[in-house]
Amino acid sequence: MTDFDTVDYFTDPSLVPDPYPYFDHLRAQCPVKQEPTFGVYAVTGYEEATEVLRDTEKLFSSAIAVGGPFPPLPFTPEGDDITEQIEQHRSQLPMFEHMVTMDPPQHTYARSVLNRLLTPARLKENEEFMWRLADQQLDEFLADGKTEFLAAYAKPFSLLVVADMLGVPEEDHQQFRIVLGAERPGSRVGALDNEIVASNPLEWLDEKFVQYITDRRENPRDDVLTSLAQAKYPDGSTPEVIDVVRSATFLFAAGQETTAKLLGAALRVLGDHPEVQQALRADRSLIPNFIEETLRMDSPVKSGFRLAKRATQVGEVDIPVGATVMVCPGAANRDPRRFENPHEFRLDRKNFREHMAFGRGVHSCPGGPLARVEGRVSIERILDRMLDIEIDAEQHGPAGERRYDYEPTFILRGLSNLHITFTPNP
Ligand code: HEM
Repeated sequence: MTDFDTVDYFTDPSLVPDPYPYFDHLRAQCPVKQEPTFGVYAVTGYEEATEVLRDTEKLFSSAIAVGGPFPPLPFTPEGDDITEQIEQHRSQLPMFEHMVTMDPPQHTYARSVLNRLLTPARLKENEEFMWRLADQQLDEFLADGKTEFLAAYAKPFSLLVVADMLGVPEEDHQQFRIVLGAERPGSRVGALDNEIVASNPLEWLDEKFVQYITDRRENPRDDVLTSLAQAKYPDGSTPEVIDVVRSATFLFAAGQETTAKLLGAALRVLGDHPEVQQALRADRSLIPNFIEETLRMDSPVKSGFRLAKRATQVGEVDIPVGATVMVCPGAANRDPRRFENPHEFRLDRKNFREHMAFGRGVHSCPGGPLARVEGRVSIERILDRMLDIEIDAEQHGPAGERRYDYEPTFILRGLSNLHITFTPNP
């Protein structure tokens, strides 16, 4: 038995398969509870998490949003306001060049580039692509009657949706799939492709987008990449190519794994709860509720971090200046003060939209609308084309005794693989 009072949340593998009893344990003591290993303040209560995420200007910085206590702060907090110190050391922190770790006003600038992209009109075009893509992905394995869903569908689908959103030409999609590891196991990779696979995927992405953006600035066309290349900051100035590139490539980091995890979680529910599958087959209008309840129950981002710029209080708990605060959407979304019987999957939950799987405040996920459509389109086509979806008992054990592997991370929550069986309905 894991001792929840002494366990190291950040490295102990025993918390990975099911972190929720641990979150409950913390919340039951206090919704803002300091954990023993790194002295991180874990925020597991819904109200308290909202309070932290909404305060970006005065109290909390996102500088450590993705690493939390790793690496340790490159400075010793001094005085009662460390805003200046954060600015001086920002470039020593992980992912400092991406918007998720920025604070206003830099954050406002970086995010404004996305406004050009994530428009309702663009989303509509992107949805048309999704319907086609869903069928193409399903065609790859449908006849087999079984599959490992994450590699065969969830990962390539979520990757190619981001690629299309950014306007990557379809003839380059296969390359993206290979480099970013979303190729089906056993598929053939050619000599040129092997060269690409050997390179660093993030560097490759940056270079590819530098080429696209530079090209579209010199030779504008009527396409999405041109619109991105011509985006201006709110003050009318033109961003450097590299800054546009970073806003674009970060979407792959932020939008692929997360959505793949949502799709994996959704399929597990369909397999483990035949009554939910039946209800959705009988009434497709329940699919959006189903996606929201999946996001609440298995929030793909289970925790994120903030740095206290000044001493403050959250939920009547003192937070000292320089403290690392871990906000846990995965825990807040199961706070019994907010959600009745929070560990139960309920298709008819009245307040399911109140979950904070996409965060809150200025950093709240700009890809939320996209991820929701990805979920809806995928589930529609999957229900159409796969009948009697079941969890593969040979791989995961029989109902009631399932074994699932989850990705060993303290930030994300998602299955490593999901083997399913079904009857093809071509
Ligand atoms: C189910 C899928 C997804 C989940 C659960 C999710 C969750 C989140 C969360 C919780 C944040 C806030 C991080 C923070 O406050 O520190 C965030 C930020 C972000 N997400 Fe998502 N996301 C998903 C899909 C996507 C997609 C599809 C895209 C884009 C194509 C995307 C792009 C972003 C970006 C760019 C940010 C940073 C925003 C900022 O710092 O202002 N996400 N996401």
